[in-house]
Amino acid sequence: MRPAHAIIDLAAIRHNYGVAKSTAPEARAIAIIKANGYGHGAVEVGKTLAPIADGFGVACIEEALELRESGITNPMLLLEGIFDPDELPLVDEYRFSIAVATQQQLDWLLESKLKQPIDVFLKIDSGMHRLGIEPENALEAYTKLKTSAKVKNTVMMTHFARADEPAISATSDQIERFNKAIECIRAPCSLANSAGTLAHFNSHQQFVRPGIMLYGATPLGHSHETDVLLKPAMSLRSAIFSIRDLPAGEPIGYAGRYVTDKPTRVGVVAMGYADGYPRHAVDGTPVSIDGHRSRIIGKVSMDMLTIDLTDLPHIKEGTPVELWGNDIKANEVADHCDTISYTLFTGVTRRVPLRYVNRNN
Ligand SMILES: Cc1ncc(COP(=O)(O)O)c(C=O)c1O
Repeated sequence: MRPAHAIIDLAAIRHNYGVAKSTAPEARAIAIIKANGYGHGAVEVGKTLAPIADGFGVACIEEALELRESGITNPMLLLEGIFDPDELPLVDEYRFSIAVATQQQLDWLLESKLKQPIDVFLKIDSGMHRLGIEPENALEAYTKLKTSAKVKNTVMMTHFARADEPAISATSDQIERFNKAIECIRAPCSLANSAGTLAHFNSHQQFVRPGIMLYGATPLGHSHETDVLLKPAMSLRSAIFSIRDLPAGEPIGYAGRYVTDKPTRVGVVAMGYADGYPRHAVDGTPVSIDGHRSRIIGKVSMDMLTIDLTDLPHIKEGTPVELWGNDIKANEVADHCDTISYTLFTGVTRRVPLRYVNRNN
C-alpha cells in the first residue's frame, strides 16, 4: 500500500480544547470544527470533544447536519448563518443556533414560521468589513431580535481580522468599536477566535470561538510562546521509496529547479501536491526522516517529492518521513510555502487516509 497517511491524535485535540478553556476560564468555548474539522475529520473531532465542548461552530447547515446525524447533540452554531430561508425548518428541527450577519438574514428570521425560538449570534462589523451589521444599526437589530418570538437568546458577536498580530492596534480598535456598538445592550458577547483567545484576554467575554488552536497550531507563529502550550493533532506522513546518488551539477525534478552543488543522495517520498502537500514548497522546506531533520530539494510533483539524504547515509528505502506534525510544525512548513497552517490542514486530500489515535502524551 502507498505509505502516505495522516495520524490524527484525538487526545491532542482534547488537550488543545482544554488550553482554550483554561486560557479563557470565564468563557464558554465554541469549538470550531468547520471544513471537516480543519481537515481532521469533523465527525471524529466532534465525537471526541462532545463530552467536554460547550458547543460547536460550523460554516453551514450541511456541516451541522452531518454532525447531528452522527449523534452529536451539543449546541451547534452556523457561523455564516443561513444562505436561504428554506434552511429555517431544518434549523428548527435540529436545534441549530445561527449567526445573523446581514440585513437579509435578519429579515428572513423575523418573517419565518419557526415552531420554537432559537439562539442567535448577531454579528456586528467592527472593522473586518466582510460580514456583520453596521455598528450604528446594532441596537435596532438587537431590539428586533429581543422582541421577536422566534428568538430565545441573542449573543452579540464580531470577528477579528488581525488578532494574530498582537503588536498592532487593529484588534483593540475592533474591540473598542464593538463595545461602543453594544453599550446600550445587555447581552452575552463572543469576539475571540484562537488568536483572540491566546493573545487578547480582554476579548474573552462570554463565548470564545477557538478553531486552529484545537488542531495544535498557534495562529501566532511557530516561534511564539503559545506554541508550546498546544499539541499538534495531525502528523502527515509517508516513506522514502527510492534513493539515488547524483554527482554535482545535476537537476532534480520538474523544471530542474534544484541543481546539485555537490555529490548528493536524493530520497523520493510518496507525497505530492495531489495529497495536499503544497506545490510551491521552496527548496529547503523542512521534513523529518525518522527523527532527523532534512529538506526538500526540487519541485513537489503530483505524487512525489524529493529530499536531501546526503548527511543521512544510513537512511534506507522504506524509512518513514514526517512532512508536518510533532517534529516539524505545520506553521514552519507553511512559512516555507507562503501560506498558513489552515490551508495545509484543510488541503489534505481524500487520497490520504486519516488514522485516529489517542496518544495522551
Ligand atoms: C466566525 C469565526 N469564528 C471563529 C473562527 C475560528 O478562527 P481560528 O481558526 O483562527 O481560531 C472562524 C474561522 O475562520 C470564524 O469564521
